[in-house]
Amino acid sequence: MERRPIGITVSRQIMDSQRMHPGATGELSGLLSELIVAAKVISAEVNMAGLADILGVSGKTNIQGEQVQKLDEFANNTIIRRMARCGYICVMTSEEEDDIIPVKEGYEGKYTLAFDPLDGSSNIDVNVNVGTIFSIHRRASQWRKGSREDLLKRGRDQVAAGYIIYGSSTIMVYTVGEGVHGFTLDPSVGEFFLSHPDIKMPEESKYISVNEGNHRYWSDEMRQYIDYLRQEDKASGRPYSARYIGSLVADFHRNLITGGIFLYPSDSKNPDKPHGKLRLLYEASPLAMIAEQAGGRAITDEGRTILDIEPGDLHQRVPLIIGSKIAVDEAEKFLLGL
Ligand code: AHG
Ligand code: MN
Ligand code: MN
Repeated sequence: MERRPIGITVSRQIMDSQRMHPGATGELSGLLSELIVAAKVISAEVNMAGLADILGVSGKTNIQGEQVQKLDEFANNTIIRRMARCGYICVMTSEEEDDIIPVKEGYEGKYTLAFDPLDGSSNIDVNVNVGTIFSIHRRASQWRKGSREDLLKRGRDQVAAGYIIYGSSTIMVYTVGEGVHGFTLDPSVGEFFLSHPDIKMPEESKYISVNEGNHRYWSDEMRQYIDYLRQEDKASGRPYSARYIGSLVADFHRNLITGGIFLYPSDSKNPDKPHGKLRLLYEASPLAMIAEQAGGRAITDEGRTILDIEPGDLHQRVPLIIGSKIAVDEAEKFLLGL
């Protein structure tokens, strides 16, 4: 019988990375390990969702004005309960919570955590990939209790960022600023094994991911760029194939592996959301760190680099153009009229 290869577990990868920093205290490793336990619990629930009574809406709406799915709530509570007493963070913010989330008194640590507990909620009931996205910063304030200010930090200052995507398999992709690595969960042993070492985002794009339903609400420049991608030009691989799952984490992951560009630009569809739908702290910033670490780029539709944006609010929305470098460079030229 062929023996299973002795894989590198994500815990081993985290410890190896820690060993490269002699002054490391192990707190970041501990934080990531706790987050991984929460991810395993969420993965088990997502995979059982069709059988357990956990599909559908919870009957609540969140600060985003969106219906909270039962699985959103489960994922949110799972992460909050576990991380509030892990001892490595001093404050959290979640897409599902209006205000900051304090940690248990006496359990404050030196990091902060921003997360989207379940991204792609609209896809839960139709069994399409969803995911968890996380962003980790070091605490700015010297005193123990964490604050909003500790969370309102530029993406460039992230200590770590990543996501877990629940689909045909559960895959965790993360970076601590030393490249991007992917791990696949082997449910039979409950371990994440290294499956995508040192991921590099292909410079060439194969796919464009954008909600064409918003075409009429985009700026003229955005419409011209999308129309340009529809023209035939073999040399530049146009027209790209269209792939849009409606889960940012799934659209991003495919483009990370195969090459592509994802856009959620500003649109005039909803005056309350002039900067598009996606949130800076726990969607755009963490994925922008992953993209740049893997050789890609992430900008707004005004050409601003996502990682350099100073956040003003926990749930601040930003237009997001993210993916293969050549495609994002080209989009930037169009949008800036260069
Ligand atoms: P969330 O489920 O966390 O609210 O995120 C959903 C987001 C993102 O995952 C996806 O790219 C986008 O919503 C899809 O929005 P549209 O349905 O407007 O295209
Ligand atoms: Mn989301
Ligand atoms: Mn979400």
